[in-house]
Amino acid sequence: MCGIVGAVRAGGSRNDVIRGLKLIQYRGYDSAGLCLKEKRDLQIFKAKGVIEKLDEKVPASLATVAIGHTRWATHGQVCEKNAHPIEGGNREWAVVHNGIIENYRTMTDELSGEGVVFKTDTDTEVIAALLALNNFSDPVRNIAWAIKKLQGSYAFCAVKKEEDNVIYAARFKSPLYAFYSGDVAMIASDPVCFPKGDYFKLEDGEICKLSQEKIEFFDASGEPIEKEASPYKKINYIAGKGEFEHFMLKEIYETPDAIRRLAINFMNLDFAKLNKLKFDKVKLIGCGTAYHSCLIGASFMRSFLRVEAEALQASEFRYGSFPISRRTLAIFVSQSGETADTIAALEKAKKKGAKTICLTNVLHSSLAEEGEMVLPISAGPEIAVASTKAYSCQVAALYMLTMALKGEKHFYKSIKQVQDLSRTLKSLFINMSEFAADICQKEKVFFIGKGDDYVTALEGALKLKEISYINCNAYPAGELKHGVLALIENKTPVIVIATDEKVYDKTMNSALEAKSRGAKLYLISNKPPKACELESFEMCLSLPSSPQPLRNILAILPLQLLSYNVSVLRGIDPDKPRNLAKSVTVE
Ligand code: G6P
Repeated sequence: MCGIVGAVRAGGSRNDVIRGLKLIQYRGYDSAGLCLKEKRDLQIFKAKGVIEKLDEKVPASLATVAIGHTRWATHGQVCEKNAHPIEGGNREWAVVHNGIIENYRTMTDELSGEGVVFKTDTDTEVIAALLALNNFSDPVRNIAWAIKKLQGSYAFCAVKKEEDNVIYAARFKSPLYAFYSGDVAMIASDPVCFPKGDYFKLEDGEICKLSQEKIEFFDASGEPIEKEASPYKKINYIAGKGEFEHFMLKEIYETPDAIRRLAINFMNLDFAKLNKLKFDKVKLIGCGTAYHSCLIGASFMRSFLRVEAEALQASEFRYGSFPISRRTLAIFVSQSGETADTIAALEKAKKKGAKTICLTNVLHSSLAEEGEMVLPISAGPEIAVASTKAYSCQVAALYMLTMALKGEKHFYKSIKQVQDLSRTLKSLFINMSEFAADICQKEKVFFIGKGDDYVTALEGALKLKEISYINCNAYPAGELKHGVLALIENKTPVIVIATDEKVYDKTMNSALEAKSRGAKLYLISNKPPKACELESFEMCLSLPSSPQPLRNILAILPLQLLSYNVSVLRGIDPDKPRNLAKSVTVE
């Protein structure tokens, strides 16, 4: 899982590639590298950490060709040796790759038998070695010959020392896009790296050759093919952090506007298409935070449509045996639209005949390209790894979608509720520093709730753990006594979410059972605390009033702010937590 960019520009392509890499750090940021091809020389630079570190290392250059890479390690530790570009042969080829070569062990053994000496721990080196093994007069033949040997997924670009001003590229199951204007030819994992204009989407098995004069495409055997440019789609370009210290905080503050925009965009919903969907079962599928929004979505569908609905993690759905038929509606949720498991899950559901809807924040993403019906999340660019405004928009979108499936009257009522929510959310930008100071030294934190509040607990725990590195776990309140209470010690924090009147007292009972064993309780509820609650809780936060289904969006906002504050207090960069990436483009 990584990002790749290549550029051919007379007068120097270094900056095109560095700029592109900075824009796709959401794909990984543990190390980075760049190859400048100047005349018949490959100059390779590598740095551990973010692209800014690489930028400092790479000198100004007039080199026409450059390829670059931002890495999220899959094979081999994070170190300069394993950072791409990876060399092949006697520095004859340099390769940057995104994906996983699944047969790399077999290939490494085979090639070692032929005398190839491997210098890195990466699967990518197999590609570089294969490219260098033959010296066909046309390097496109080297690519075609090499990709026949590869199993797994790849998008790679490669330069050959002996070839002037040319980049070769190929893809299989990992996204790759190409761009050509008279001034510059570019190749990248995401068209966000290109100047504005039409671009080409490479399909599986296709090869591309970029030069100053033109861009050419070939099939997997190296035969030339014609390709139409994809019409330019509006890309949400990334703005800076503005007055905020981190993207995460900026994005939390953008939630009310994003929710308002979402409600407006949803008014264009294609009712005719929606009404044609006949189904008796719903599967909602996503990963991480998107999976949590699916849990809430499933609850909406069960409550309002009285239909059998369940949320599934895409990685489980992919290989599990779940009955799917033509009467199944499968809904896929993904902020980035590039999560490999979610895309594979969509393919599986389509093959089995399910009707599919994709909800994504990136309308030029792979998921959006493959979805039968695509609905926008409308959150605007989200850069911080911890998803915040996108989560809230996903939940609101799933609510409006549920109501649309119920009927037009319900749908328009839900739009109004979501618009009102956008105003209410603004009152929740409260100071969480005291609460954060209380939590930040702890080794473990528990989150509990019942029903939809349990989903808020799950998402709250995920947020806090990913950017604070504190061990956080969420449980249904009623489950505490079935094991979890054994973990409660003196002053263990338990954050209690209780926004549903029907089960409020039950949740309180579970919380007080934890308190009797020494827990420190913190409450997020939808009503002012009673005197007895004030006594039992270190902190009580009452949410402003809102319809019950949307309370999850209100309750998560202070928890996002709490996570942000704890992360900063612990000296962590909340935008780029260790070992994670914004978009998980490998399995
Ligand atoms: C990663 C991110 C999460 C995100 C998940 C699913 O784990 O760190 O924030 O929720 O991927 O991503 P998606 O783009 O499919 O919503």
